[in-house]
Amino acid sequence: MADNEGNIDAKKIGIGTPQKQDGFFLKGNEHACYGIKARLSQVFNEKSGRTVMLAFDHGFIMGPTSGLERIDLTINPLIQYSDCIMCTRGILRSVVPPTCNKPLSLRFDAGSTILTSLNDETLGDIEDAIRVNAALLAVMVAIGDPDHEGLTIANLTKTVDMGMRYGIPTLGVTAVGKGLNRDARYLGLATRVCAENGANVVKTYYCDEDFENVTNACPVPIVVAGGKKLPERDALALAYNAVTQGACGVDMGRNIFQSDSPVGMLLAVREVVHNNATVDQAFDCYETYKAENK
Ligand code: 5RP
Repeated sequence: MADNEGNIDAKKIGIGTPQKQDGFFLKGNEHACYGIKARLSQVFNEKSGRTVMLAFDHGFIMGPTSGLERIDLTINPLIQYSDCIMCTRGILRSVVPPTCNKPLSLRFDAGSTILTSLNDETLGDIEDAIRVNAALLAVMVAIGDPDHEGLTIANLTKTVDMGMRYGIPTLGVTAVGKGLNRDARYLGLATRVCAENGANVVKTYYCDEDFENVTNACPVPIVVAGGKKLPERDALALAYNAVTQGACGVDMGRNIFQSDSPVGMLLAVREVVHNNATVDQAFDCYETYKAENK
């Protein structure tokens, strides 16, 4: 009866030691369900509380933009240096190796392109998101766009509802409305509206003035997009300024894959995001990698 004796001993284990109650490391998600927290923990590093997401979903509105013509050649080699990939299901199924083993932020909306109005969007299928093992559902929200604001906010709320049914968190992606500046006032409004409608994480742009007000007033984590290609040092400064003012990382595309050293840039951005490197230290990391890997 060795098993019974074992059980008697086991019953004594831990008496007097209260079960540890863990808080959750990402703001605004403490009360989310297990599946949502587990998936967010795949995307964000618990130690730094931040993430480096590699975005290459641009083709869904822009077609084969510079650097994304051959994702198999330019992006696949970068994936190993990212914390999470962000792409459409088409690129995922046609090009991304299922063995890449990185959490997926799935572009969950689809609609009009840069050739027409932009932001006239519909949603994907939650079953397909589950099928491809999505860790985040990314949906564009066009705050301030008179033609599509209501539609895209409705898309966000529907996505949040579908995601919650299956424990998949939602990433609200702020688009920039026509005639609206990317200033703290606008970005603060847009990010807050995403959070108020249930987004677990919000992606937005960095602004030079008062960005801290944007992160402070958003009750869930913010990640910043890189935007159009900048000189490498400026892109690293953008990442540095964003995280030191409260962003929980980056969701960066063009400033990585359009760089003359995409791996060097990705490693340098990681230094800023996860190791609190200064801009000089990160730029040195980029230059060193580039020089050693010509
Ligand atoms: C494209 C997107 C991109 O994922 C986002 O803008 C990040 O990429 P970049 O750093 O190139 O701006 O949402 O629609």
